[in-house]
Amino acid sequence: MHQDIQEILFSLEEIQRRTKMVAQQINQDYAGKTLILVGLLKGSVPFMAELMRYLTVDVRIDFMDVSSYTGVQSGQVVIKKDMEQDIEGKDVLIVEDIIDTGNTLYNIKKMLEERKCTSCKIVTLLDKVESRKIDIHADYVGYDIPNVFVVGFGLDFNEKYRELPYIGILKKECYE
Ligand code: PRP
Repeated sequence: MHQDIQEILFSLEEIQRRTKMVAQQINQDYAGKTLILVGLLKGSVPFMAELMRYLTVDVRIDFMDVSSYTGVQSGQVVIKKDMEQDIEGKDVLIVEDIIDTGNTLYNIKKMLEERKCTSCKIVTLLDKVESRKIDIHADYVGYDIPNVFVVGFGLDFNEKYRELPYIGILKKECYE
């Protein structure tokens, strides 16, 4: 275990097992359809890669990179890199590593729906429901977690720890 990690919350094996279950649900729900997965950079990369391995529906992948500014009244998200595919008339599934306040996903979902996709759903590996400030829910959730500082499997603190092959709680002295 990395020296900055206080406790492992979900091991790689647990994440894989749970992701496979989520993927099976997605396979059922989108049977016979083509699904566009839109990963939000950068945190979603490991989860997206894991999820794709278990999907049997026809899939296209794309990525967006956005900055979110919580607490400001307008322009809550800024697109740094947009997705490449035209989603009009398509089924879209946004792939996230974590939902916290809900600000990012609320805005991205609204933006993608304005592009006239047929459906726009959300899958997230982690959901911090306690921290929600905007009413948005994920259609598929790996794990509900309490308000703890988690890193690993794509999640960072100051760009560190994304490479860890598990999700762990960061020691307090590392961020205070
Ligand atoms: C994280 C995470 C979500 C967002 C969740 O991204 O991946 O996109 O924050 O927070 P919210 O629900 O309060 O909006 P971040 O902006 O840290 O970028 P990253 O994926 O590159 O780490």
